[in-house]
Amino acid sequence: MDEMAVRLGFVGTGGIANRHLGCAQKRDDMEVVASCDVIMERAQEAANKYGGKAYDDAVAMMDNEELDALVICTPPFAHGDIEEAACERDIHFFVEKPVAISMELAGRVLKAVRDSGVITQVGYMFRKSAPIIAAQKMLSTRAIAMVQAHYYMPGLPNKGWWTKMELGGGQLVEQATHMLDLGRFLAGDVKSVMGKTSTVHDWVPPAGYEEPEGGLVSVKEGFEIPDTTALILEYESGAMGTLSCSLVPQVKWDNGFKVVAEGALVTIDGANANWTNEDGEVTEEAPSDWYDAVLVEFTDAVASGGTTTIPYEEGVKSLAISLAGYESVKRGNAPVEIAEILPVGL
Ligand SMILES: NC(=O)c1ccc[n+]([C@@H]2O[C@H](COP(=O)([O-])OP(=O)(O)OC[C@H]3O[C@@H](n4cnc5c(N)ncnc54)[C@H](O)[C@@H]3O)[C@@H](O)[C@H]2O)c1
Repeated sequence: MDEMAVRLGFVGTGGIANRHLGCAQKRDDMEVVASCDVIMERAQEAANKYGGKAYDDAVAMMDNEELDALVICTPPFAHGDIEEAACERDIHFFVEKPVAISMELAGRVLKAVRDSGVITQVGYMFRKSAPIIAAQKMLSTRAIAMVQAHYYMPGLPNKGWWTKMELGGGQLVEQATHMLDLGRFLAGDVKSVMGKTSTVHDWVPPAGYEEPEGGLVSVKEGFEIPDTTALILEYESGAMGTLSCSLVPQVKWDNGFKVVAEGALVTIDGANANWTNEDGEVTEEAPSDWYDAVLVEFTDAVASGGTTTIPYEEGVKSLAISLAGYESVKRGNAPVEIAEILPVGL
């Protein structure tokens, strides 16, 4: 272990935390000092596997350990107090997307981040994929006409909070946010959004159904979110965009884009990119550990006192698009201006 390794405390050691813990474990410049989960066995499991101490309370962890930074991987509803406590203690933080499920809470944390000056990064990992960065660079000198995005999932993640708007935020907030954020990375900020949702699949479990542990499921007790959503987006630049997302059970994950620009057509498939322009066709594939880059950039910034490319503000701006989409549904599909949703000054 490097003596100057960035000392990390993990909060929420469920699914995605294990990926970031795995990244930290294989690097000399990161040290897992402690892990915390409201379910103590999960924190203990993480501590046994990746080292450090286990806690069931994030504030106790912050107060008892010498931490440079938190890696916050709690579900969408469990944000706010943790980030504010970190800001009060000058502890930098990486936070998984979505940063919150309401703009009120995101605005509150944003204020704490700005007042404290802590370094932040949001886990929008697709932005750090080298092929997507190359596609963005190629597009940056051209007028973009259309940003067509989709996120199709072959079923529902088997986590109770996913099924409720007030816990997971719905598919637009929880997951399709990746595509809305990447749309901003490729084509700039969004001006307005129109949305429509539907629930197509029958999610009610049959009599005698025995729920499996984890994984994706095609039925779930208490399913209350829309399972299929379509958005029309208007970008500040004049580009148009669409987003289609669905978790209706089918057979494969599929997320990506087509981008139509002056003289170029881009396809993004997961973390890979392909484009054709006046110079011919280019295909770029991401390395298998491409998703580590978003955390590495954060810890590099903490170590050097530098900056990150996806600070908390970016998470707030991308959340606003999802919230505007659901707000449009509430208003009978009328367009909702992003400026109406964002906190003043963003
Ligand atoms: N970037 C990505 O590709 C990606 C992939 C998967 C998940 N995520 C995001 O990561 C977040 C977590 O998702 P997950 O699938 O790991 O969820 P999960 O339910 O598997 O894990 C979340 C953990 O947080 C714990 N927790 C809840 N409240 C807490 C609190 N106040 N303090 C400490 N621990 C608490 C839970 O007990 C659970 O163990 C979500 O926002 C999700 O969207 C991102």
